[in-house]
Amino acid sequence: MLNPSQQLSKVLSEGPQISNLIQMHDGEFNLEVPPEVSRATIDALMKGHTGYCNLTGIETLKNALIERCFQKHSKLYDPSELLVSNGSSQALFMLMESILSSGDEVLIPNPCWPAYKAYINFNEGVAVDYHMGTKGIDIAEIRTLVTPRTKALIINSPHNPTGLVLSRQNILDLVLLSQEYGFLLISDEAYEGIIFGGDEYVSPLDLAVSSNLLVVTRTFSKLFSMSGFRIGYMFADRNIIRRCSTLQGVMTDNACTFAQHGALAAIALPENSLKKRVEELQRRAYYCHQLLSSTFDIVQPQGGFFLFPNISRLLGVTWDSDAQFVDGLLNVKSVSTTPGSSYGMKDHIRLSIASVNEADIKEACRRIIDFVHHR
Ligand SMILES: Cc1ncc(COP(=O)(O)O)c(C=O)c1O
Repeated sequence: MLNPSQQLSKVLSEGPQISNLIQMHDGEFNLEVPPEVSRATIDALMKGHTGYCNLTGIETLKNALIERCFQKHSKLYDPSELLVSNGSSQALFMLMESILSSGDEVLIPNPCWPAYKAYINFNEGVAVDYHMGTKGIDIAEIRTLVTPRTKALIINSPHNPTGLVLSRQNILDLVLLSQEYGFLLISDEAYEGIIFGGDEYVSPLDLAVSSNLLVVTRTFSKLFSMSGFRIGYMFADRNIIRRCSTLQGVMTDNACTFAQHGALAAIALPENSLKKRVEELQRRAYYCHQLLSSTFDIVQPQGGFFLFPNISRLLGVTWDSDAQFVDGLLNVKSVSTTPGSSYGMKDHIRLSIASVNEADIKEACRRIIDFVHHR
């Protein structure tokens, strides 16, 4: 049995040989990088912005990020509270390194993006799951998990892998809990702004939380299709930013200078062009949900890139596990997906609509349903 990363490597290495492969495993948006971004990046290269820059990010980008945060959330940060990193992955890793001592606990949603656990374990912390499932959180249950060793709690909304979006009330409850017990609330907002159905996007930034107990990480990788630029950023208390900057200094120094100029252009994009990108994702997500809802117990995503159908009723007969199901789907039907167990829920699979158009979704769902019915 392949583990998730072996599974992914298999797909990537065998992809060209798997005929008619439909990729529903990855988290990269296949709309092109906005031309304004490419142009600004090339301009930056041509103008010689090719050397090291300020360790915490170029001044123009930092100012623009602070201004955007203020415009959208009425929350004003100081440049000393912002670090531009090599993707938000690096920010999250450095954050764990800077806050955790051996045995410190971090509450993480179950299911969740698997890197959280890795970052916590690498830094000798203990990851403690709180239940999220496909329906959402229960604040009373989370409260029972808080101990004197609880250092932080991570939220991720819109959520990878379920597509859930936390409500204003959920976020308010978590903010109050973090203040009551004095732990950090870490809001991983990688899918920021990718909200379906016209719902509001709520971040703890909207709730006037004091900066010393709040960390927000964001990225240009998802909505803007800029994953290869490796530009992410983190707002946090200045002491955390100082420690993470020291670490970034010895790990990688600054994030790529000319890519930061591209990110600056991304921030300046008109709202309308971002809206179109979100509408495209919503169309795909709703269509995929509609096609699969009579075959699977599947929640309609509220945002992000993913759907997370429940396959429990299929397990134990033809397939022993979600990983075996995913493997079979790839080998027999040439549709790549990821097993829910990679995210901590073994009765599900994750489908990404980020890099498939509607025709691909239609064909992939036809194959998936056929796979289930002709097992
Ligand atoms: C939930 C979540 N957070 C953070 C990231 C990190 O993205 P990046 O390092 O490209 O900013 C990802 C990437 O898949 C993600 O799914």
